[in-house]
Amino acid sequence: MERTSLLLLLLLLLLLTAISFPLTLPTSPDHFFRPSSAKPKATLSRPKYKEFFELIHPLPSDHLTPSCALHIVHHTFGKTVNRPPYSTPYSPPSDCPPPWLHVALEFRTKSRGDQYDRISGLWLGGAELLRSSTVKPTESGISWTVRKDITRYSSLLVKRNINFTIMLENVVDNIYTGVYHVDVTFFFYKETAVRAPLIGGDHISIFPQKQGLIGGFAAKDVYESPADLIIPISAFHNSKGYWFIIKGDSDVHFRKLRFPANTRRAVMELYVSFHGNDEFWYSNPSNTYIRMNNLTTLRGNGAFREVFVTIDGMFVASEVPFPVIFTGGFNPLFWEPAVAIGAFDLPTYDLDLTPFLGVLLDGRDHVVGVGVSDGISYWLVDANLHLWLDTGAASVEAKSVVYQNPGSSIKRQEEFRDLDGSFAIKGTRKTQLVGWIKSSAGNLTTSVMHQFKFRSSIKYGRNGNYKHAKQNMKSTREVRVMNEMGMLLSRVTMKRRYPIKVVTLKIPGTKKNTYMLITNVSHSLIDHCSNGKLSSFVHNNQIANGWIEVKDHDVIAGEAITNQTLTCRDDSGCYVRTVAAIDGSLVIDNSTFACPSLI
Ligand SMILES: *[C@@H]1O[C@H](CO)[C@@H](O)[C@H](O)[C@H]1NC(C)=O
Ligand SMILES: *[C@@H]1O[C@H](CO)[C@@H](O)[C@H](O)[C@H]1NC(C)=O
Ligand SMILES: *[C@@H]1O[C@H](CO)[C@@H](O)[C@H](O)[C@H]1NC(C)=O
Ligand SMILES: *[C@@H]1O[C@H](CO)[C@@H](O)[C@H](O)[C@H]1NC(C)=O
Ligand SMILES: *[C@@H]1O[C@H](CO)[C@@H](O)[C@H](O)[C@H]1NC(C)=O
Ligand SMILES: *[C@@H]1O[C@H](CO)[C@@H](O)[C@H](O)[C@H]1NC(C)=O
Repeated sequence: MERTSLLLLLLLLLLLTAISFPLTLPTSPDHFFRPSSAKPKATLSRPKYKEFFELIHPLPSDHLTPSCALHIVHHTFGKTVNRPPYSTPYSPPSDCPPPWLHVALEFRTKSRGDQYDRISGLWLGGAELLRSSTVKPTESGISWTVRKDITRYSSLLVKRNINFTIMLENVVDNIYTGVYHVDVTFFFYKETAVRAPLIGGDHISIFPQKQGLIGGFAAKDVYESPADLIIPISAFHNSKGYWFIIKGDSDVHFRKLRFPANTRRAVMELYVSFHGNDEFWYSNPSNTYIRMNNLTTLRGNGAFREVFVTIDGMFVASEVPFPVIFTGGFNPLFWEPAVAIGAFDLPTYDLDLTPFLGVLLDGRDHVVGVGVSDGISYWLVDANLHLWLDTGAASVEAKSVVYQNPGSSIKRQEEFRDLDGSFAIKGTRKTQLVGWIKSSAGNLTTSVMHQFKFRSSIKYGRNGNYKHAKQNMKSTREVRVMNEMGMLLSRVTMKRRYPIKVVTLKIPGTKKNTYMLITNVSHSLIDHCSNGKLSSFVHNNQIANGWIEVKDHDVIAGEAITNQTLTCRDDSGCYVRTVAAIDGSLVIDNSTFACPSLI
């Protein structure tokens, strides 16, 4: 395989400043196949299955020895397209009954052959526990493990004889030969779970001695304990999985339910993924641009999307989702062996609906809806309603007093001539909900504020062959609880920021019918959570630069450098991990529990 260096290529570019070869499509992000035979460098000891991973913060149970384990799934997902998901009965393990301090889920996958990357969902009793995407396998095989803390689902995990379900739609034929071998294990940790010897590199200088927040980031700060009841807002018929398949802007899906009369707190957790022509929605141009240029691409509708929740037809909450990049996105070499942020454990969004209980606790049925503003192709969305009950009373009294939703202000600007031009979107939304609940804990008023600022800019140049797409999303949620005297009892602030920048240049390839894509991607997920006493901070940042030469959808050559740093800090300590990969090989992997001086 001939390898052109990036530098040489850039020199070549300078010589080709006025590129005007005909291209049917401007640079439109797409999904590619990694080179199979060409790629791997002859390293001495290549493992049989190449291990992929996602950089995540440590789980709160990482330093504990599990009290027991339940290996619930050992299954192969072959030809599963248009088939119902795989279900198996679940009951809590008899050798370590609840209560548990922590519960962790482990999802292990192996695959070999040719295959697309796929989306998968894991549910317990119809409530989603994990949304994950798969890695495209290779001839020599790949594997990965996802670990997630699922303690917040304890009220489901104590139930007997419910179904554990996995959806992983896969196509197997002469070309796509890869099947996915999946193992799922639940690990349960009792209060008495013992500290495990630390596994990890030599670079660990200190380890938080306190049973701290490291890994319990956010969830432990925000909620005093797991909810008493979880109601899935998902598709009942599970022949196509429990997620709602949302096709387009007006395709709102509903679930009718009755709230227990003693509900004192309600939080809706949203699971979201986007597919088809909306896989790269944050870089989609307007429909006018596509129409005026007679383009055939269907990746349009602009670069703003919002997942929203309605109650009885009324808009109550929303979120602009984090732009997850699946492993085939932009340049598949970027995401090897460290996948893109969130690709194995897609971020979820907690929307506090407590102030609405005044409307919901009237003993009648209510209709909860979910939809996607401006969505095209299909989105897979469902939600879990986490409810905390007043165990000391059969019912509580509640009233919603303030509902302010001035609506979002979305301003769009575009200016283009033929294939070159620019698109800008600025959006803001502020929602305020206030309501009181009189339970055995007293008469408490909850005030929920959500605000977001969204910015997007897309620029095309060089006759549509150069594209610069940038987006920034800042979301702030604040939940305050006051007593009847107006005294502030708690105040939790959650701030999230997720900027992304993708720059792509398309030039002719070195061979007939090939083209080159030079792409730079940088993106981050920054979470900051505080409750006045404790605070946590997670900053995950990934930068990837490289190029690929493409024929049809196959990558025939390419180079990639990906750098990533994850920094976590809370009151019990820090965790920092830095990785760098060149052409799919890890060249740096340093981690430390020592706090860096500058965060
Ligand atoms: C579990 O799944 C099986 C097979 O899909 C189904 O027949 C059964 O009714 C489900 N059980 C529950 C409790 O949902
Ligand atoms: C698009 O197609 C229309 C009708 O065929 C044609 O008049 C127009 O010139 C085309 N525009 C471009 C930019 O190719
Ligand atoms: C609860 O407190 C709110 C605000 O302090 C007050 O308006 C409301 O009347 C109280 N409710 C009851 C039942 O006392
Ligand atoms: C990508 O980044 C490299 C290094 O910063 C730069 O030299 C190159 O011009 C960038 N490529 C594009 C397409 O912007
Ligand atoms: C990536 O990391 C390598 C090794 O630490 C460094 O030399 C390079 O400058 C980094 N690249 C970027 C774009 O940050
Ligand atoms: C990573 O660890 C290696 C080996 O201990 C060390 O040489 C290197 O300086 C470290 N790099 C960083 C960026 O900390």
